[in-house]
Amino acid sequence: MQTNELLDKIFRGARSQNGWLPTPVPDSKLRELYDLMKFGPTSVNCSPARLVFVRTEEGRAKLRPALAPGNVEKTMAAPVVAIVGYDTRFYDQLPELFPHNPAVKAWFEGDEKVDFANTTAFRNGTLQGGYLIAAARALGLDCGPMSGFNNQAVDQAFSPAPASARTSSAALATATPKRCSPAVRACRSSKPANSPSGRESSDARV
Ligand SMILES: Cc1cc2nc3c(=O)[nH]c(=O)nc-3n(C[C@H](O)[C@H](O)[C@H](O)COP(=O)(O)O)c2cc1C
Repeated sequence: MQTNELLDKIFRGARSQNGWLPTPVPDSKLRELYDLMKFGPTSVNCSPARLVFVRTEEGRAKLRPALAPGNVEKTMAAPVVAIVGYDTRFYDQLPELFPHNPAVKAWFEGDEKVDFANTTAFRNGTLQGGYLIAAARALGLDCGPMSGFNNQAVDQAFSPAPASARTSSAALATATPKRCSPAVRACRSSKPANSPSGRESSDARV
């Protein structure tokens, strides 16, 4: 693909989407997505984002009550919903993520550093949500980023980060394998009998 086409695909031609093809997004595609977005820069490589990919009916049922009314229908129809949370105890991983400077873990440890740790987690986790969207588009997945949901309810239902950490969800992105034309969007509820269901049998967590 030419550079110009790629730039259109990721930025100039990419729009937030509200309708989806009912095509499943397999584990291999989600792995590819994660393996791209993880390279986006974060401060001291802290990488606080924690992702949950919701693809099952059970997962959708847990998510539904947390969504703002205007976001329910399109989110329920998406082949996959990525919950982007962040781990406020991200610094426990710093010895592995930033091994050339063991001192950085102490920047965030202790009661007096909680505000700094939380701000760092929110800032960098949100940045990683942006990297996720750019990576998804580069891989041919459209997105509909969303903050219209109840953070606390999503945290309780999905715990994007370990239970020991206070977590919060920064954004939701939904994805589909192909850009939806207006015609596809208009008829998405009447799916052809022989098309893939767009539903998967398991959710995934990274
Ligand atoms: C952090 C964030 C939160 C958003 N929240 C919602 C939302 O809750 N519901 C919605 O329909 N669109 C939401 N959007 C989509 C924006 O309205 C959309 O990206 C913006 O209008 C620009 O449109 P474009 O991406 O097509 O250029 C959100 C976008 C971002 C980046």
